[in-house]
Amino acid sequence: MLAARFSLHGFDSAVVTRVGTDAMFDGCDALYVVGRGHDSLLLPEAHPTFVQPGLLVIKVGEGRRHPLIRAVCGNDTDDDLPESVLDLTTGLAGDALHVAEILTGTRVSACEGSVVLHALLEEGLPRLARDKTWGQAAARITLIPRALDHLEHLRSLATGSVDVVMLDPMMRRPLKSQPSFQGLRRFAVAEPPSTDVIDEARRVARRRVVYKHARDQRAPIDLEALGFGAGERGAHITYRVLDVSAAGDL
Ligand SMILES: C[S@@+](CC[C@H](N)C(=O)[O-])C[C@H]1O[C@@H](n2cnc3c(N)ncnc32)[C@H](O)[C@@H]1O
Repeated sequence: MLAARFSLHGFDSAVVTRVGTDAMFDGCDALYVVGRGHDSLLLPEAHPTFVQPGLLVIKVGEGRRHPLIRAVCGNDTDDDLPESVLDLTTGLAGDALHVAEILTGTRVSACEGSVVLHALLEEGLPRLARDKTWGQAAARITLIPRALDHLEHLRSLATGSVDVVMLDPMMRRPLKSQPSFQGLRRFAVAEPPSTDVIDEARRVARRRVVYKHARDQRAPIDLEALGFGAGERGAHITYRVLDVSAAGDL
C-alpha cells in the first residue's frame, strides 16, 4: 500500500524483503522501513529518521517562555489562548507536538506535502498518542489525511477559520540540527513559500501567522513588505509574526 502511494507521486519504489541493511541498499539510495516499533527512513550512513520527540523535552521545559509559544500566543490572555493552530509545514511534527504539549487547550491540524514524510507522520502520530509522556499532546494533533501542498489546503479553508497558521519552510542551509533531519531534508518539499501562500495564510488566520526562519539567513520572501513584525527571537531561530488583526489591507 505504501509502495502504491509513493509510486503515484513519480519516483521509483519497490518493496524488498528485510535482510541486512547493506544488502537492501543495493540499487537504491533510501529505504522506508516498516519496523515492529516504528516506521523509519534510512539513508546510507545517516541516522534513521522517524517521528519522535527527540530534543523536544528541552524546549518544552521552557513552557510559555519559549519563543515559538510566545509567537503563537502573541498578547493573548491566559483565558483567551489560541484554540486552533494550523501547521502548514509539519515535517516530523516537532513544532506541532511542542505547541500541543504546552497549549493544552489547542487543537493542531497538520499539513505535510511530502508523501514520504506524510507516511512517517501517519504511523508516528498515532504511535505517540499511545505514549505515556507525549500521548495527550499527540492526540491533539490531526494529520490531514493525505500529503497535500499547503497552498491547496489553505484554499480549501474558510476565511478566519483557524486562530494561528504556522510556517517553517526548509532553510537554504541546514542548521546544525538533529541527526534525523538528514532524512527529512532528502524528501522534504524544498521550494520556499510564495507570496500567495502568505496571502492565503493571512486570509485563513483569525489572529496571526507565524513564520520561522534561521536568524542568520534571509527569508526567501520579503516578510516586512508582507506585514510581518520582528516577532520572537531564539538563539538561532526567529519566529516572525504577522498580526492579522493589526495588519489591515496591504
Ligand atoms: C523545516 S521542515 C518542518 C519541520 C517541522 N517544523 C518540525 O518541527 O519537524 C519543512 C517541512 O515543510 C514541508 N513543506 C514545504 N513546502 C510545503 C508545501 N508547499 N506544502 C506542504 N508541505 C510543505 C516539507 O516537506 C518539510 O517537511
